[in-house]
Amino acid sequence: MINSIDQFKEQYPSMKLIPCFRVKDSVMNEIEKEVKQMTENCQKSLVNSPDHITNWTKPYGTAIQLSLFNSSGDTSDFSTDHNNSQKGKFFVEPNAKNVNSILKMFEHSVLNFRINGMGKNSGLSPHKESNIRNGWHKCRFHLPVFTSKNSWVMIGWEKFWLKRGIIYFFNNGLVHSAGNTSEETRYHLVWDTILDDKLYNEFFNEETLEIPYPNLLTRIPKEEFNELLYSEPVEVTSYEEQGTGLKNKLSSRFNFRKLLQGAIKKYRNFQNTSS
Ligand SMILES: [Fe+2]
Repeated sequence: MINSIDQFKEQYPSMKLIPCFRVKDSVMNEIEKEVKQMTENCQKSLVNSPDHITNWTKPYGTAIQLSLFNSSGDTSDFSTDHNNSQKGKFFVEPNAKNVNSILKMFEHSVLNFRINGMGKNSGLSPHKESNIRNGWHKCRFHLPVFTSKNSWVMIGWEKFWLKRGIIYFFNNGLVHSAGNTSEETRYHLVWDTILDDKLYNEFFNEETLEIPYPNLLTRIPKEEFNELLYSEPVEVTSYEEQGTGLKNKLSSRFNFRKLLQGAIKKYRNFQNTSS
C-alpha cells in the first residue's frame, strides 16, 4: 500500500501552488515591521549582479535579497543559500523574533531563508529549478509580506496573485517567473526545505486535524481557496533551466570516461592478439 507521503511525492510534479496556512494578523503586523527594519538597515545582495547565485534567472529592474539563514551572519552573503545543507547555518537577525518564529517551524529541514524584494517594473524571467534529487524533494515556500495587486507570480503557464500573510507551497520545479509593476517594493519571505515526514504531516496532510503552531497559524477556510488560487493563463515562449551547464559538463566528463574505457579495451585486445 502506498503511504500518503509517497502519494504526495507522486503528485508533486503536477502541483503548482498550495495555500497552506494563514499567519495570524498580530504576528504578520510584527513581521512587517521586522522586514521593513531589516531591508532598511541590513546589507542586501543584488540579484541583478552577474555574480549573484540567482542571476541565471535573468532578473530585470531591481531584484534584491537578504539571506537570513547562513553561516557568516552577513545578510548579503548568498554563497551557501543553495548548497542543500544546514551545516553551520543560523538565523542571522535574532532581534527579528517574529520572522524567526516562522523559520523555527521549519528548522528541522530548512536549507535557506531569505527576504526577496522586487522594485517597480522588476521581476525574474521564466525559469525552472531542480527540486527533486537522489530521491529527496525540496519544497519552496513563500510568505508575502509587502505585496499588491500589481505583483504576480507565474507557475506552469498560470499567473497568480499571492496574498499577504499566507504561507504558500510554491512548486519551483515547474517553469515560473515573478513580476512587480507597483511603485512599492514587493517583499516576500522565501525558503527551501527538505520534504520529510514532519513537514508533510504539519503542512500537507489534510487528515491532520489539529493546527500546527496554533499561536502563529490559522487554518484557511475552504471557501477562500478559489479566490486564493485564482489564475489567468500565460503564454511563455522560452525559459532558463537550472543546472543545464553542469549537465553538459557532466556529460562531457562521462564521454571522456567512455573514450578512455574504449581506448583501454582496444589496447587490451591488441595485447591479447599480439601475444
Ligand atoms: Fe525561481
